Amino acid sequence: MSHEVVEKNVGLMAVLIILVISVGGLVEIVPLFFQTETTTPAPGVQKYSALRLEGRDVYIREGCYNCHSQMIRPFRAETERYGHYSVAGESVYDHPFQWGSKRTGPDLARVGGRYSDEWHYVHLINPRDVVPESNMPSYPWLSDAVLDGAHTASKMKAMNIAVGATCPTCDLYSEEEIANAKESLMINDPSAEGGKRMATEAEALVAYLQGLGLASKEWR
Ligand code: HEC
Repeated sequence: MSHEVVEKNVGLMAVLIILVISVGGLVEIVPLFFQTETTTPAPGVQKYSALRLEGRDVYIREGCYNCHSQMIRPFRAETERYGHYSVAGESVYDHPFQWGSKRTGPDLARVGGRYSDEWHYVHLINPRDVVPESNMPSYPWLSDAVLDGAHTASKMKAMNIAVGATCPTCDLYSEEEIANAKESLMINDPSAEGGKRMATEAEALVAYLQGLGLASKEWR
């Protein structure tokens, strides 16, 4: 009888649905904020260097997450292919996280160290040069775009706020690191004046990719 009342009254049903989803969500999500497993860095997981932080922003800007997840599920088919399944403590420095939900390409959570830097540069300019059957888009402009570092310090400060609020044991950027943000985007290049030059977006992106999942080598 009471069920019939709910089914015949759309407004009431909508209110009850919202109530059930809210309570269900709170019960599922809120405890995660307080579990040390989710608020403590996993062994070996370190904060992003300024260069990797910039690379991560290129990854987000170019929408790489539309085709690549960074979340290995705890199933044999996944762990055999990609390595140890992802754990929450690996994502403490990720704001926003890059778990993704679409895999047109492979998961990238453990791609660090799998290929050489040179492989990545060629692959980004034209994936077909290294993987003939690839349908990944080309990103040739990344090798020409030089970072300017105009917002690197602000990004580090923003990360300190986001990470500091959710991860009490995380390592935040020091005043000195923030002050040197722009300089730390310089990379060694013997052919450049003074032996150093500003990194390109491709170099920042590859630095980001090459560090993905490296910490997990300790537990594999
Ligand atoms: C339209 C979908 C698509 C987009 C967008 C995309 N990729 Fe891919 N990616 C693929 C596919 C498919 C493969 C597998 C074939 C290959 O290696 O090229 C791949 C492979 C890769 C690999 C090699 C992974 C491995 O384990 O072999 C890396 C690294 C990679 N992509 C990085 C990127 C980055 C960085 C971006 C953004 C700049 C990006 N991808 C954007 C589809 C995509």
